Amino acid sequence: MQTIIEPFRIKSVEPLRRTTPEERAKYLEQAGYNLFLLRADDILIDLLTDSGTSAMSTGQWAAMMRGDESYAGSASYFRLKTTVEDLTGFQHVIPTHQGRAAERILFSVLCKPGHVVPNNTHFDTTRANIEFTGAEARDLPLASSADTQSTGPFKGGMDVEALERLIEECGPERIPLIMLTVTNNSGGGQPVSMANIEAVSGVARRHGIRFYLDACRFAENAWFIREREEGYADWTPKQIAQKMFSLADGCTFSAKKDAFANIGGLLCTNDPALAQQEKDLLILTEGFPTYGGLAGRDLDAIAVGLQEILEPDYLEYRIASTGYLGRHIADHGVPIVEPPGGHAIYIDAGRMLPHIPTGEFPAQSLAVELYRHAGIRGVEIGSVMFGEHARYELLRLAIPRRVYTQSHIDYVVEAILEVNERKNELRGYEITQQPEFLRHFSCRFRPL
Ligand code: F0G
Repeated sequence: MQTIIEPFRIKSVEPLRRTTPEERAKYLEQAGYNLFLLRADDILIDLLTDSGTSAMSTGQWAAMMRGDESYAGSASYFRLKTTVEDLTGFQHVIPTHQGRAAERILFSVLCKPGHVVPNNTHFDTTRANIEFTGAEARDLPLASSADTQSTGPFKGGMDVEALERLIEECGPERIPLIMLTVTNNSGGGQPVSMANIEAVSGVARRHGIRFYLDACRFAENAWFIREREEGYADWTPKQIAQKMFSLADGCTFSAKKDAFANIGGLLCTNDPALAQQEKDLLILTEGFPTYGGLAGRDLDAIAVGLQEILEPDYLEYRIASTGYLGRHIADHGVPIVEPPGGHAIYIDAGRMLPHIPTGEFPAQSLAVELYRHAGIRGVEIGSVMFGEHARYELLRLAIPRRVYTQSHIDYVVEAILEVNERKNELRGYEITQQPEFLRHFSCRFRPL
């Protein structure tokens, strides 16, 4: 059989609410054309993020009933710790309420003004948390990723020569850590090869610099390595993930992605002195080190999710279903970041809407129109999110895990192709109000 099916059946459903284009035009105006400011009830298909939006399994819900809510030393923590140790090999496992809390603690301990942190591509919260300490966040993507239409198997990696040059230029003492984001979210959800992880790890070791993974989508990355990199076809996704983690000194992780949890994160390290400093900070804002801002039941949901996420049937379906959306729009003339990524499809709105200049936010314009036309919510990943650091003007359609069926995705395909038919009518936007950090979450726009 050729058909790749959803490897689950549905036991509990959530109704979707339909709205009319006229209603949606009104909601858009009220939200200042920022889709983060819409009410979720007014959205039909929500592709804003794959973060915290997964459907949990019967196994996870059952595990939640076992959750131990003891303030200190809860059994749930030890179940999570055992799972994470087995997967990553890291000796110190610190739970946090989500990924950015792990980032905030890590960078508060390690970074100060004058420091530079290289990454293949920083995610927005990672960049913001580094910049908040006064350090600089430097993206070192591969040159081959500059063209969204090029089709390499591992476009998400880091430019290792650029990394060497940066270390020479700054000196290793100004680089507290090197990070690799797997998969490369802001770079189109593209994977990073094991060879690239090994190369970056090697450079870090040679210069005595810590090497961390931003491991949010480690399982999807492992699947791409299995499918695309020579020598891994017979490995299990878990073995590949174990090797990825073994090359690093620590990781930050958002359990809202590749752990099927609705909340949670992890900060891991092998360095006992660093772990102690991190726990001292954790207690100030997150909580005691055996719960870190989470309920015991959340820790259990994460522990089970970390095992389920590595099941080959799930990963095969996951990557195939993302590719299904990508191919069905790209093969009909909508430019996407090629090849399709793991958790999302990124429409290259800069290329699709050349009549809207960068300063008028073409990807925001497409996001607004897709919602108005069909009730679908995506997210701008371009100049609204990254300002002058934006490399492209993308509309990301992130796919929540185990949530939507193929007919939902067929509806999304139809909507995008209809908007593409009349793309020349779309107009730009200007920002009328914005905060100092992470403006995309709350700024307001006006159509031009
Ligand atoms: N790192 C990466 C690569 C991410 O994609 C995210 C979150 C984080 C760190 C922060 O984790 O949300 O748990 O605090 N990405 C979400 C997204 C929000 O929509 O891509 P968090």
